[in-house]
Amino acid sequence: MPDTDPVRVAALADIHAREGNEREIRDLFGQIGTEADVLVLAGDLTGRGQAAEAEILADIIRSQRLPVVGVLGNHDYESDQVDQVKTVLCDAGMHLLDDEPHEIHGVGFAGVKGFYGGFGSHVLAPFGEPLVKRFVHETIDEGLRLESGLHRLRSAHRVAVLHYAPIRETVVGEPEEIFPFLGSSRLEEPIDRFEATVAVHGHAHHGAPEGRTAHGVPVYNVAYPLLQTLTPERPYRILTLSAPDVAIKPESEQSRRTA
Ligand SMILES: [Fe+2]
Ligand SMILES: [Fe+2]
Repeated sequence: MPDTDPVRVAALADIHAREGNEREIRDLFGQIGTEADVLVLAGDLTGRGQAAEAEILADIIRSQRLPVVGVLGNHDYESDQVDQVKTVLCDAGMHLLDDEPHEIHGVGFAGVKGFYGGFGSHVLAPFGEPLVKRFVHETIDEGLRLESGLHRLRSAHRVAVLHYAPIRETVVGEPEEIFPFLGSSRLEEPIDRFEATVAVHGHAHHGAPEGRTAHGVPVYNVAYPLLQTLTPERPYRILTLSAPDVAIKPESEQSRRTA
């Protein structure tokens, strides 16, 4: 496509492919294919992280035309088959961002699964037991890997892709007791420092559809169960990224409907 054409990025998370929902996902991808140039999948691609479930998604990816990029989610680790899951998806042509950022049609994508630990002044600190320190360092490491990916991109637009939420605003709607398990502000820092154009995430199936980082970067929760509830006829987010310096045209019909 010509460099001057806007790039339409479809974003979606938490499709949880498994026996029983193949037709639903296939139809969904077919609909997205009529509206987008790229598909971003923000984790929880499978139901329980089984290679056989990844095969279901891989077949669907192979049968459609869109380039697919994304990250894994916590569910994709459940069955200890994460290497097989990655191999199956990569063989189908999906570009996993955990290892390296990727550019499509002049738009850069950097991503990690992320991890949790809470938000703002209540973020978990690396203090006390070694286990707590390891836990916090896992989140810090994920943030550093996202930072490295964003840093390596030279494109005008940089899309940050996460499974866990980088801000509190987009998990509101979930029980407040589990907010610390849905994401971490430590993931917000690289998005702001490297001035990402936009960030997308999933995991908070009952959160809120959009928010902003401290520096004003738009953040979209694209969890499929959430968007099915809010916009059932269009349960995904389309971001239109225009060259060279227009940010995004996000306030689509979806935003107005959820206001
Ligand atoms: Fe999920
Ligand atoms: Fe998840």
